[in-house]
Amino acid sequence: MKISKAVFPVGGLGTRFFPITRAIPKEMLGIINKPLVHYAFEEALTAGIEEFIFVTRHGKDSIEDYFDYMSIHSEYFNLKMGSVCYVRQNEPLGLGHAVLCAKNLIGNETFAVVSADDFILHRESCLGEMIKHYDGSNMVATMGVDYRDVDKYGILDVDYETGKLVIAKSVDEKPSIASAKSTYAIVGRYLLSPKIFDVLADLPPGVGGEVQLTDALLQMIPLCGLVGFRFDGKRFDCGSKSGLLAAILHVASQNSELRNVIEDFCGSRVEGFR
Ligand code: G1P
Repeated sequence: MKISKAVFPVGGLGTRFFPITRAIPKEMLGIINKPLVHYAFEEALTAGIEEFIFVTRHGKDSIEDYFDYMSIHSEYFNLKMGSVCYVRQNEPLGLGHAVLCAKNLIGNETFAVVSADDFILHRESCLGEMIKHYDGSNMVATMGVDYRDVDKYGILDVDYETGKLVIAKSVDEKPSIASAKSTYAIVGRYLLSPKIFDVLADLPPGVGGEVQLTDALLQMIPLCGLVGFRFDGKRFDCGSKSGLLAAILHVASQNSELRNVIEDFCGSRVEGFR
């Protein structure tokens, strides 16, 4: 199936990165010389996405400036860039609300949602791999996480597994460790039916007083099902400082010049401990 539109919710406040995110969007934090949002965009581009819809807000103008520059200097991408547009999320009411803000730009077609916080290094494109396996159910990327971390994620209640697909019978946003039904966490890649807009429009606030995308997915299970896709590749939680640092070190370690810096640093640390 061809999926040509993707929503990038970039309206979050980035509180975990205060104070830098008082002036710089967290999506513009750098993995060396490219911002996080560049990688998310490139993953979607490689997956065949043609229309890129950013749900943005006050203070996020540098994202627009960045993609203006990229549209002129498209040699930074492997493929032709496609069209980019922006819609504002006036209040930070949650991920579900951010997706709802893109309703008029999506219309009546299946679409993708990509969170730049989840940085995924994949041989090709995590989103592209999902699109190849899309079967008409709402689909989320999923991975097993440490059981102590389940309260940071949407967690699938598994009906059964088949190959890379985890068929969910329920889903719970940020459950307590005691009540979590599995350790399969939602990672920020979604393929969604446009019917989700009607559900989101009527959804009461959930965990944290926010309109939760997970709650809409739960409501839609009787309608179209919910499938977790166990993707290949390595994911970094760049919504956290440790995840961002790990991603930077990983990318740097793949560059011969920068790898020397890491080796020097590690060498000097080892010396220091002697
Ligand atoms: C959001 C979703 C959650 C998902 C997570 C993945 O949470 O609500 O279901 O597991 O992204 O990164 P957030 O990290 O915005 O709190």
